[in-house]
This record gives sequence, C-alpha cells and structure tokens, in this order.
Amino acid sequence: MISMIWAMDENWLIGKDNLLPWHYPKDLQYFKNMTKDQSVIMGDLTYKSLKTYYKTKPLPFKKVYVANILDVTYTDAIHVKDIFEFIKHTKEDICVIGGKTIYQLMLPYADRLYITYVLKAHEGNVYFPKFNLSDFKLVSKKMEDQLIFATYERSKI
Ligand SMILES: NC(=O)c1ccc[n+]([C@@H]2O[C@H](COP(=O)([O-])OP(=O)(O)OC[C@H]3O[C@@H](n4cnc5c(N)ncnc54)[C@H](OP(=O)(O)O)[C@@H]3O)[C@@H](O)[C@H]2O)c1
Repeated sequence: MISMIWAMDENWLIGKDNLLPWHYPKDLQYFKNMTKDQSVIMGDLTYKSLKTYYKTKPLPFKKVYVANILDVTYTDAIHVKDIFEFIKHTKEDICVIGGKTIYQLMLPYADRLYITYVLKAHEGNVYFPKFNLSDFKLVSKKMEDQLIFATYERSKI
C-alpha cells in the first residue's frame, strides 16, 4: 500500500521557503498520528525541512527513506537514488510525505491519499501539482476548526 499525506490551502499551496507556510497544531498532531511507526519516503528538501522542526530529536518514523539523485547520504536515513525503482520493487507499506517533486512523481503509484484542506489562503511559493482527484473516492472526512481531514482511496477501474 502506497499512501501520501499532505496539507494544502485553498490555492493548493504547500510550502514557503522550504518550510510549512502555517502553524496548525491539529494538523501537526494528525501528521504525527498518521505517520507514527510507518516507513516514509521524502525528497531531500523535505528531509532538510523536517530536520529544522525536529532539530536533534530523532524522526518519529519506522524507517526513513530520502530520495536524491546527487547521492547525498544521512546517518538517520536510507538513501534512494531512483525513486521509481524503489516504489516498483518495495514490499513495504510506504507513506510519501513530500515535497512537491516527490508527490508529483509518486502520485501515479498512490493507493490512498490523506489530504488536509486548510480553509484559508496563505502566502508561499510551493504548490501541490495539479492532478485528477476524480481518480480517487472519498472514504472519510472530518472538519476541525479551519481544517478538513479527508481520506481518499484510488477507484478500482
Ligand atoms: N504542506 C505539506 O504537507 C508539505 C509536506 C512536505 C513538504 N512540503 C513542502 O514542500 C517543499 C519541498 O518540495 P520540493 O519539491 O522543493 O522538494 P522535495 O520534493 O522535498 O525534494 C526534491 C528532491 O527530490 C530529488 N529527486 C527528484 N527526482 C528524483 C528521482 N527520480 N529519484 C530520486 N530523487 C529524486 C531531488 O534530488 P537532487 O537534489 O539530488 O536533485 C530533489 O532535490 C517545501 O516547501 C516543504 O515545506 C509541504
């Protein structure tokens, strides 16, 4: 099972200067709950971004895969040079946690999406790539304050 999780605002904004454009504690908690003890994959820039939030604390995942083409390695992560080879051959359940580039590459492989809709327009410079949400069906939706937590599963053809 390949899942993807992200939060986006009403313009599909997801990032600002390699950080989140907002601070929603309920979304951070949701992200933590959904990814705790999961194997996750992220792009190099998202790894650097997460490290600024976690500083010296260990990343709270089962296994951490970091994709980059330039062969940069980290002591707390497993390097993935070719994300397509990785996703085609992995036997693990994997959660894709960003960022824009990696979401775009992995969308065709995603079975489940966890989208947090931020019901506001924020400022930033990285947007989720446009895609066809009608390939997925909504399976749950919960609203809290200015956030909607929605889960989708890929429709069977
Ligand atoms: N709102 C949210 O839920 C959320 C979640 C996560 C991230 N974000 C935001 O997203 C932004 C970062 O997104 P981004 O697109 O700039 O960076 P990214 O997706 O985190 O990482 C991009 C990296 O992926 C590597 N890459 C590209 N193609 C690859 C391939 N085929 N195989 C292996 N590696 C490959 C590249 O490595 P090389 O450097 O070697 O070329 C590139 O540096 C930040 O602003 C962050 O805050 C938001």
